[in-house]
Amino acid sequence: MLLDVQNLTTRFHTHDGEVCAVNDVSFSVEAGECLGIVGESGSGKTQVFMSIMGLLAKNGRVEGNAFFEGKQILGLKPAELNALRGVEFSMIFQDPMTSLNPYLRISKQLSEVLMEHRGMSEEDAAIAGIQMLDMVGIPEAKQRYRMYPHEFSGGMRQRVMIAMALLCEPKLLIADEPTTALDVTVQAQILELLARLGRELNMATVMITHDLGVIAGVSDRVVVMYGGRIVEQATVHEVFNDPQHPYTRGLLDSMPRLDDPSSKTLYTIAGQPPNLQNLPAGCSFAPRCEYVMEKCQSQPPQLVELTGGRKKACYLEKLK
Ligand SMILES: Nc1ncnc2c1ncn2[C@@H]1O[C@H](COP(=O)(O)OP(=O)(O)OP(=O)(O)O)[C@@H](O)[C@H]1O
Ligand SMILES: [Mg+2]
Repeated sequence: MLLDVQNLTTRFHTHDGEVCAVNDVSFSVEAGECLGIVGESGSGKTQVFMSIMGLLAKNGRVEGNAFFEGKQILGLKPAELNALRGVEFSMIFQDPMTSLNPYLRISKQLSEVLMEHRGMSEEDAAIAGIQMLDMVGIPEAKQRYRMYPHEFSGGMRQRVMIAMALLCEPKLLIADEPTTALDVTVQAQILELLARLGRELNMATVMITHDLGVIAGVSDRVVVMYGGRIVEQATVHEVFNDPQHPYTRGLLDSMPRLDDPSSKTLYTIAGQPPNLQNLPAGCSFAPRCEYVMEKCQSQPPQLVELTGGRKKACYLEKLK
C-alpha cells in the first residue's frame, strides 16, 4: 500500500462557526493504480489532499492518520514535508498559477528543481527539462522551454504543471481537476495523458473531479464523496454498472447520455448539498434521498465493506 489514509477529519474555524470539510475519511492508494475521487463542488475532495500534503489554510485543523509507505506524514514539520513533496508525491492544483511563478521563465522553474533535488548541472537540467516538456505533449518543447507561463494556453499550462510535478519521478501524483478555463476535450486529453504517464512510469495517480464521465476510461477504482464523507468506493465498472449508493446513482443519471440524444433535459439531483457548518445528525444525503428511512435521520451510516471489497455508507440493503 502506497498511501493509507485513516479517519481523516478536517475542520476550518471561521467567524460564523466551524466548517466540517472532511469527516472521518479512510481510503488507500496502491502503488501504480489510478484512483478517481468524485463528488460535487464543496464535497471536500481538494481539502482531503491539502490536509494530507500539509497545505491547509491557516484556519484549518486536521486529525487522523496518513501513512505514505508506512510513514506517518500528518503533522510533519515543514522542512520534513518539503523533502517529500514534489519528490515522493506531487500535486497538480486546480489553478496552474498557484504552482507556477508568473515572473520566471519555465526553463528556470524546471531546471531549479532538477538542480536542487537531483543534483544535475545546468546543461543536463536543460536537456531533461526539454525532454519532460516533450513527454507531456508540448509541441516545439525546445522553443517553449524559454517562455513565461502566461505565454502558454490554459491546457498547455496544465501540461507544464504536470511536467513540473513529474521532474523528481514521484511515486504518487495527485491531479486536482482544472475547473475553469479548460474545455472538456482538453480536460479529457490531460487525464488520458496522466493515465498513460502513470502506466509508463509505474506511478500511482489520483484524479479529482466532479464529473464521473471524465474518469470512466482512465481510473481503476473510484471513491465517491458527499458532504465531506466517502459514501461509496468501488471499481469503475461497479460504479457504472451497479452503483450502490443513491447519490452515486444520481451522479450517473445526471451524466449526458450519448446513446440517447433525445434526452435533452438532463436529470439533476433535487435539493442542495449539505451545510458543512451544520451537518444533519444522520446521513447528509438523507434530505435529498428518495429512499430515505427513519434511521437515516438519526445516525450517519458507516462506510462498510460489501462482498468483493467494495464499500458503501448507506442503510439500504441493496439499491435496485
Ligand atoms: N480556509 C477555509 N476556511 C473555511 N472553509 C473552507 C476553507 N477552505 C475550504 N473550505 C470549505 O471546505 C469545503 C470543502 O472544500 P473543497 O475545496 O475540498 O471542495 P471540493 O470538493 O474540492 O470542491 P470543488 O469541486 O469546487 O473544487 C467547502 O465548503 C469549502 O468552502
Ligand atoms: Mg476542489
